[in-house]
Amino acid sequence: MKAETYYLETFGCQMNVLDSELVAGQLRRLGLVPVSEPPRADVVLFNTCSVRRHAEDKVLSRLGQLKALKRRRPEMIIAVIGCMAERMGADLLAQTPQVDLVCGPGELDRLPTLISEIRAGGGPRVALSGTGRGRRDDADRRAADDRIELLDLARTPVPGAAVLQSYVRVQRGCDKFCTYCVVPFVRGPERSRPAANIVAEVTRLAEDGCREVTLLGQTVNSYRFADDHQTVSLARLLERVQAVPGIDRVRFVTSFPADWDDDIFRVMRDYPKVMPYLHIPAQSGSDHILRAMCRGYTVAEYLRLMDAARQYVPGIGLAGDFIVGFCGETAEDFRATVALVQRVEYQNIFVFKYSPRPGTSAERVKDDDVPLDVKAARNNELLAVQSEIAHRHKRTLVGGTCEVLVEGYSKVAQRAQRAAEAEQPCEESAPEFAGPAGTARGDQLVGRTPTDQIVVFDGRPEHVGALVRVRIEAVSPLTLFGRLEAVVAPPRTPARGALPILGPD
Ligand code: SAH
Ligand code: SF4
Ligand code: F3S
Repeated sequence: MKAETYYLETFGCQMNVLDSELVAGQLRRLGLVPVSEPPRADVVLFNTCSVRRHAEDKVLSRLGQLKALKRRRPEMIIAVIGCMAERMGADLLAQTPQVDLVCGPGELDRLPTLISEIRAGGGPRVALSGTGRGRRDDADRRAADDRIELLDLARTPVPGAAVLQSYVRVQRGCDKFCTYCVVPFVRGPERSRPAANIVAEVTRLAEDGCREVTLLGQTVNSYRFADDHQTVSLARLLERVQAVPGIDRVRFVTSFPADWDDDIFRVMRDYPKVMPYLHIPAQSGSDHILRAMCRGYTVAEYLRLMDAARQYVPGIGLAGDFIVGFCGETAEDFRATVALVQRVEYQNIFVFKYSPRPGTSAERVKDDDVPLDVKAARNNELLAVQSEIAHRHKRTLVGGTCEVLVEGYSKVAQRAQRAAEAEQPCEESAPEFAGPAGTARGDQLVGRTPTDQIVVFDGRPEHVGALVRVRIEAVSPLTLFGRLEAVVAPPRTPARGALPILGPD
């Protein structure tokens, strides 16, 4: 009998990428195999994001494309999972009747049951946590958390893949309720996972060949887990995770300025496996806007933190997020944001045009009064300022060396490879695992420095998965180009493909 198939497409942040990996593991255990396009799938899943309207519009448009397919093959199951599912709930069924299943991020462990209920003729299913709306009491919430915790713990490696880098959740939800943000409503209150579970998960990943873990939380530095014996902070957790045999690199995202503790800088300084990289969104360079966003810090406090970062960890890579065109943002407020970006000299920033989200307090009580063209102009200006800074900083790296974890083949090498070979349909290369890896044989490799900068250089296939030393010879605004000097540590497991492929287009 032909195996059943699934197609899974992921939108949104790293949390969703991780959730998709866990969902794919569940589906594989049910015997489903991944395919690379919806028409060949028995189950189509979109793991969705609600953070900006644009993210939701993309999903609605993808669902629109599936309408005709669903008419031809009514037995196909279309599932919307993740944050948009939680936000819209049953409205999604009404608005897009081709959808069979709506499942929030806190209910993903129930997917196999829900799918079999639909198969058995039970009709469409909606599974929500009711987060952020006070629909769940504490005991109920704890029970749901214990259930979903098992999904993280049941994580299984992707068959046939050497997984070099992994995300590991350390926290669920968020309690900050920044006035613009939908995340606390769709992901629920902040809960830290037990430290022992996190360390056990990292240990298993390392045994499967993982060298780098990125600890994930919406406000990851607020991590705090208390058991009968002790309270574990993020600093203590980092110490424990970096000590796991086989782990060479530890990162953590995203940090929240108001909860910062310099102890984390000390850990970064004293433990070479804790990477010198900090993603810590400022959102704005104006105190008046930060107050309107309820961020809980001032520009001066944020700058103190950035200065401390450079004092404790010279050469640290700093990254930030900014929202432009928030309610009431004047030209003067925006100039203050530009000044902040110039003062901090980030390695990279992410800039977003404010998008009012239903249910958030900004959407309810504030006026979205910055016109779209002004938001777009501010967005472009801030990116241009940053691009200049980043390029200037990258040029200072030319001539020096850096340690690179080799992730795979660059896109350029892949394209050359594909041009040389007839493209093979590959059932195993599901879209959630970053493309048609395992086939490229170009010489151009790509990897990342400790501060998470992308480096492209010539090497050999056996370098994939290794830690190498590269001398930087040239730079572009986004990429470093170098020459391989030495292998610092060979791959720990044979490179078997399906490694993430990154790099310049
Ligand atoms: N928890 C993380 C980020 C969550 S969302 C943090 O607080 O840092 C990622 C980024 O999206 C945010 O940092 C913010 O810059 C942006 N964002 C969130 N809500 C937004 C909205 N309504 N409109 C535009 N950008 C938004
Ligand atoms: Fe959203 Fe603020 Fe929480 Fe980040 S800290 S997820 S921006 S509410
Ligand atoms: Fe989006 Fe949900 Fe992440 S709203 S940014 S996918 S937590």
